[in-house]
Amino acid sequence: MAHLIPLSRLARLIGQPRSVLQKMAQSGQLATFDGHIDLDEALRLFPDAKIEDETEIRRVEEIKEQALAKAPARLELPEPDVLQQRLRQLGRDYAAARGKLMHYDRVVGWIGGKLAEAEENGRTEPGFADTFVHWLMGELTTTPSDMARWEAFLARERIMRMMTAQVTLLPKGQTFEIVGSESLLEAGLRAGMAMPYGCSNGSCGDCKCRVASGEVVKVRPHDYMLSTLEKRQGYTLACAYTAVGDVSLEVELDDADDIPEQTINARVREVERLGGRRVAVHLLTSRAERMRYLAGQLLEITVDGQSRRVPAASCPCDERRIEVHVQCETDADAATGPFSSLLPNVEVTVRGPFGRFGLDDASQRPVVLVAEGAGFAQIKSMLQHALSLEHAPSISLVRLASEEGLYQENLLKSYANALDNFQYVAFKAGTPHAAIGDAILEQAGELAQCDVYVAGSEAFTASIGARCRAAGLPEEQLKAEVVA
Ligand code: FES
Repeated sequence: MAHLIPLSRLARLIGQPRSVLQKMAQSGQLATFDGHIDLDEALRLFPDAKIEDETEIRRVEEIKEQALAKAPARLELPEPDVLQQRLRQLGRDYAAARGKLMHYDRVVGWIGGKLAEAEENGRTEPGFADTFVHWLMGELTTTPSDMARWEAFLARERIMRMMTAQVTLLPKGQTFEIVGSESLLEAGLRAGMAMPYGCSNGSCGDCKCRVASGEVVKVRPHDYMLSTLEKRQGYTLACAYTAVGDVSLEVELDDADDIPEQTINARVREVERLGGRRVAVHLLTSRAERMRYLAGQLLEITVDGQSRRVPAASCPCDERRIEVHVQCETDADAATGPFSSLLPNVEVTVRGPFGRFGLDDASQRPVVLVAEGAGFAQIKSMLQHALSLEHAPSISLVRLASEEGLYQENLLKSYANALDNFQYVAFKAGTPHAAIGDAILEQAGELAQCDVYVAGSEAFTASIGARCRAAGLPEEQLKAEVVA
């Protein structure tokens, strides 16, 4: 009887990054069934996995959380109601397994009887029934050599099921984990999914979605009422419910056209000089407000009546933090901030999002990001989003500096050191585009199997695009954004 485990949970159990398992699945080394892996297959392929040792995977998770400035999703027990439901489900699984064992026991008895009958009727050799039953009982009572490991693995997986649940979004099959008492929506947004929602407090119904399989349980109060028919059809509110066990939800993720224009207030946390006249402005929204945008989009910042439309350089999965990169018009502006009064703690208005450049978050192909100069802001946002989604088996960033140099380089180097599915290569200003093209081909391996995103000047995006097409990249797997 196959025991299937979701890929992300298996990654945690064996202390491997999820990307490693994805690569193995894509190369055919690891058989998967709808994103699940058979426990026997996992134990065969990872004979040295230390089931109790999560040191390495925790180290990488912590670096990633710190680097992405995300609130850590610690493995912790959910609220008592959810825990009770999960225990109930575990009890049902246990009872079903016991029931099956009892049935198998009876079948073994019947086999002995049937063989004895066949022997009496002369349809088998004399003594065959005894010999066979003796052999069968011997096999059933002998403990296989790998049983202790199998049991330890399964016991740990069961504990993880108490603390986490996997959510699969249909029809495209994106997955994420719910930890502790998070709602479906909170966990999805933390994982970087562009899930549709409005109020996020149970009033508007915009997060309504259908549960295709699995059970959900209420964790937050809500005023919005689902009709009796909707309830019967399996609809739920993602902002008010969580998963009891692994669930599949029918959810169409937002694309650039679905996200309504919003206006929110935020405060300046820091103005960071990047080099030349470019600065990064770090904003913090109020607790009640959150800007919905996609990685690669633009936001409009207004302070003291002056507005600028600028690229977001942060991941949309960062709860309340927004980073934008601004090109100042004068050296004085760059020294004091792009607007004369843009100082820490000053309140700004943020409007948006704008633009259509962004990741194909349903694709599971390797991602190649290419940035020139100011194009780095949007590419950085997409990089963080891709890291957060964990869907791409590998992510490469090829970067060409402009006159400001290679700013925020330490962050990229720390990603490259910590994450074995991320490669980074950078070139100083003035490097010919042909050399950048060579680096892309080298990083990508088989370019035709990748998604390539390019942001930079018109000349740069044109020449990199031409080089990628000539190397066999299908047109639909190439996205380019011209940055002034
Ligand atoms: S987001 Fe408004 S009800 Fe869930």
